[in-house]
Amino acid sequence: MAIKSRIRTIPDYPKKGIMFRDITTLLKDPVGFRLVIDQFTQHYLENGVDFDMIVGMEARGFIIGGALSYTLGKGFVPIRKPGKLPGDVVDQEYQLEYGTDKVEMHIDAFEKGTRVLLVDDLLATGGTAFAGGALVEKVGGVIAEMAFIVNLPDIGGQKKLEGKGYKLFCLTEFE
Ligand code: PRP
Ligand code: ADE
Repeated sequence: MAIKSRIRTIPDYPKKGIMFRDITTLLKDPVGFRLVIDQFTQHYLENGVDFDMIVGMEARGFIIGGALSYTLGKGFVPIRKPGKLPGDVVDQEYQLEYGTDKVEMHIDAFEKGTRVLLVDDLLATGGTAFAGGALVEKVGGVIAEMAFIVNLPDIGGQKKLEGKGYKLFCLTEFE
């Protein structure tokens, strides 16, 4: 509850019918941000999930992934929107509610066989995380687990990702 109660809901953003779960109210509260990082850190120190690298999804995944890389002593790799990375990239298209978008990752981000923790703030349809997983796998990485602050199980992302064999860890959920 300490995390969930700090997340603000804004109805009809970015369009009518969407209940936007806004984590800025959680992060601007120093107790809230510390709780998030402490809970993830504790989970990964205590549960023996084997990984060498943290991959964060632009943009909100960078906030959590950066802090977690520091507390767990792992490297950090960004997955970015198109045209932002200076080196050679792999790319992956994914579905939005209307049309498609694309994400990119450096082709030399890590060695083949590297075990990766993929992090983002929120899981809704799972399209973003699925594209991130595909990028990691395109360069020979292995997804050890995917971590989110918020899961929206009714939207279907959890089912889709678990159906593909990915393991998930989420701190809270909204119906
Ligand atoms: C939000 C959120 C996740 C994604 C989850 O990002 O931060 O990355 O949506 O939705 P999905 O599970 O349906 O893919 P958004 O696309 O709004 O981009 P931003 O972080 O750059 O604002
Ligand atoms: N990304 C996709 N769906 C979202 C929601 N309901 N709240 C915040 N971010 C989202």
